[in-house]
Amino acid sequence: VKADSFASRLLHWFDDHGRHDLPWQHPRSPYRVWLSEVMLQQTQVKTAAPYFERFVAALPSLQALAAAPMDDVLALWSGLGYYSRARNLHRAAQECMSAHAGELPRDLDALVALPGIGRSTAAAILAQAWGDRHAILDGNVKRVLARFHGVDGWPGSPAVERQLWVFAEQHLPHDRLADYTQAQMDLGATICTRARPSCGSCPLSADCAAYLHGRTAELPTRKPA
Ligand code: ADE
Repeated sequence: VKADSFASRLLHWFDDHGRHDLPWQHPRSPYRVWLSEVMLQQTQVKTAAPYFERFVAALPSLQALAAAPMDDVLALWSGLGYYSRARNLHRAAQECMSAHAGELPRDLDALVALPGIGRSTAAAILAQAWGDRHAILDGNVKRVLARFHGVDGWPGSPAVERQLWVFAEQHLPHDRLADYTQAQMDLGATICTRARPSCGSCPLSADCAAYLHGRTAELPTRKPA
């Protein structure tokens, strides 16, 4: 399998079948991308979208978020669940004010050092907000890569996760990083679903180990009991 054909086929698919009208894509800003990625950590796109619109209407900038009372932030988050996300968002905005000149830092390690931002979320922010070249590895991407490469073992285990990060880095294209990042999420959410994936519509099926060996139902490996 050629290293770059994964990305080019995914991008070509994204042009015709990806999601191009998500609220955080228009306009795209580091603040809006960050907020959307935190909401999407545990919430589906369809549920998160109206919360996102309401949140940015009330608090349109990182500066506004940092200055808002915590109760206002929690009220805007109300209904989304996992309220530690709202508390971390608020604290991170305040840290950006004090330590990063009032902006979200354009640096992977600096982002990971902020509350509520893990490595994959930091990478997704940098790739989508600035087009920087970073691999993501959320639940959807783990499933796509475990199937494509026929990786056995639970993706939550350190050894399997390390292997999946290596594949994620290998497939990274050299441009269109924002589109590529969204394309992976869209493929995982709409085609390479956990139950009954739509392999007939998948741009990667010709080289997908799970598809070729009839193993899509058993990959990725479930968490051991
Ligand atoms: N999950 C995490 N980030 C996402 C995004 N940008 N689009 C769709 N689902 C996501």
